Formats: sequence, structure tokens, C-alpha cells
Amino acid sequence: MIYASNFKTNNTRAYTKEYINTLDDFISENSIKDEIYVFPTATSLNMFGISSNITIGAQNAYPVKNGSYTGEIGLEQLDEFGIKTILIGHSERREILKESQEFIAQKFNFFKEQGFRIIYCIGETKETRDSRKTMEYLWSEFDGIDLEYDKLIVAYEPIWAIGTGVSAKKEDIDEVLSALRLRVKAPLLYGGSVKSTNIKEIASIKDCDGVLIGSASWKVESFCEIIKNGQNQ
Ligand code: PGA
Repeated sequence: MIYASNFKTNNTRAYTKEYINTLDDFISENSIKDEIYVFPTATSLNMFGISSNITIGAQNAYPVKNGSYTGEIGLEQLDEFGIKTILIGHSERREILKESQEFIAQKFNFFKEQGFRIIYCIGETKETRDSRKTMEYLWSEFDGIDLEYDKLIVAYEPIWAIGTGVSAKKEDIDEVLSALRLRVKAPLLYGGSVKSTNIKEIASIKDCDGVLIGSASWKVESFCEIIKNGQNQ
């Protein structure tokens, strides 16, 4: 299983350091063999001195080495901390920051050329789901994206389940992941209100290779509990 924590705009630099140290000890002491990813804020990136299988990734970066892009960070700033993993296409960047599919594909191609592991997010709105256009919409979010890229991980995150406390139903996740599996060889994650009480059920879904977690992972104790409850699926 893959367990990924997306901090979004949460946690300070000081707490992130404490978080990673605690998580690192937990993973080592419990001999957890899963792949663990943490995406802190850009201001909290660090080397951390990790000794277990935790990978630190960037939530976002501009597709340039460096340059004049006020407020953004580029490859040079990621290289400083040895970051080789990035989230691309998250619904909050698509919806709130108005990133277009064309720009997302440009980002994807830039970081693919740099050999980054890319967690690529897709997900439909409630409206799209209600009008039974989910798969059509999800496939359109792959426009310009190389599905054969060997460092690709795909995260299916229905927008209506993000941050609401109510995850999608097991049958709905199962249906979408099985459909994606027909064309996507990359690991498939589910995201949207994953927590310690539903991880067992979600981890048991046939084509689910892991989870991308927001709110329930912002406190380290809670993220550790999710990882613990997801064992032996
Ligand atoms: P959530 O967020 O776990 O708070 O629903 C998931 C995500 O946006 O990745």
C-alpha cells in the first residue's frame, strides 16, 4: 500500500519537523513496509534526516528551473532538498487556482523530463457524477498526460468527498478504479475523507493500491493510526 499525506496549507515548519521525526520512528519501530509519502508546505521542505521509507514531496512547483514567477518555486528550490516527487492536478489547484488541463500537462511533462515521481490527481464534481459523466470527465483529465510514464501514480479523488468527512462509497470507488485499471498500469490511489475508521474498507478494494489523505493526516498520531489500521489488507 501507498500512504500519502497532503498537508495543503497546514502545519508550521517546526511542527513538520516534529511530525516527520515521530512518523519516521513509528515506521521503523513497527517495521512498516508500505510506501509513505508526505507533502508538506513549500516553507517546511527540509532534508529531515529520514531513516525509514518516507519520501518527502512537493505539493506544487512551477515548471521551470528558476526565473521570474512571483510566489512560485521551481526545480532549483526542490533540488536543494533532494525533492524528486510532486503532486500534479489536485482539484484545489484545478478549481481554486484555475489551473487548466493544458498547463497541468505542461507541468507533468516538465517534471517527467526531470525524472520526478508524479502523483497525478483526477476527480469529478458532484454535478458530473449526478449527470453520469464521471468516466468521460476523468479520462479528459488525462489529456496530454503520458499514462505509460514509469514513475506515475494516479490518485482518484472525487471532489465531493474531499474534506467533507464523508468518503465515496466502496462500490463507487471500486467501479471507478476498475474502469481506470483497464487503461492505467500505474498504482491507483483513492483520496477523499480517508480516515482511521474507513481505511480497512478502502484498502480492501481490489484495484486500490493506496490512499492520498488530507485532513485526517495533518496530526501525526492520526496519520500513524491510519497506517496501523490499514495493515494486513
Ligand atoms: P481529505 O483531502 O482527506 O481532507 O478529504 C484529500 C485530498 O484532497 O487529497
